[in-house]
Amino acid sequence: MTQTAIDLPTNARLAIADALNQCVAETAVTTMLAQNFHWNVTGMAFGPLHDLFQKIYEDHFVAQDDLAERVKMLGAHAEGTLGSMLKRSKVAEFEGKASAEQMILALKEAQETLAATLAEAGALAAEQGDTLTEDLCIARGQTHEKFAWFLRAHLA
Ligand SMILES: [Fe+2]
Repeated sequence: MTQTAIDLPTNARLAIADALNQCVAETAVTTMLAQNFHWNVTGMAFGPLHDLFQKIYEDHFVAQDDLAERVKMLGAHAEGTLGSMLKRSKVAEFEGKASAEQMILALKEAQETLAATLAEAGALAAEQGDTLTEDLCIARGQTHEKFAWFLRAHLA
């Protein structure tokens, strides 16, 4: 018989949900990081960077909702406060003013961190037989690797 996420044993559901809450937290912090840079970027590359940062925060805003709603499908609590997100996120905010190059570097590192966090969550879901969460995590991880490449290409 086909098993849906809600039919998984409680400890499996909660472990996957916790990994997803980690993904939500880091995605949300990176959303704000990208929007902060979208607002404040200056220099000769203003146009393309302003647009790229917007593309990133718009993608992440949708993604954090998809990930949090997956937590709900697993029957768990979606952690939705900024304080708790900042506390657990491995991606940090950028304090103060950043040059365009510092922005690209900080956002590239955030994308790499996110790709790793999503890969970890996907592996955990796979271990527990939750193929559909695994699929979501793989898709998100691939998107973060794509953005990491876009950003890295500016630094070559
Ligand atoms: Fe804008």
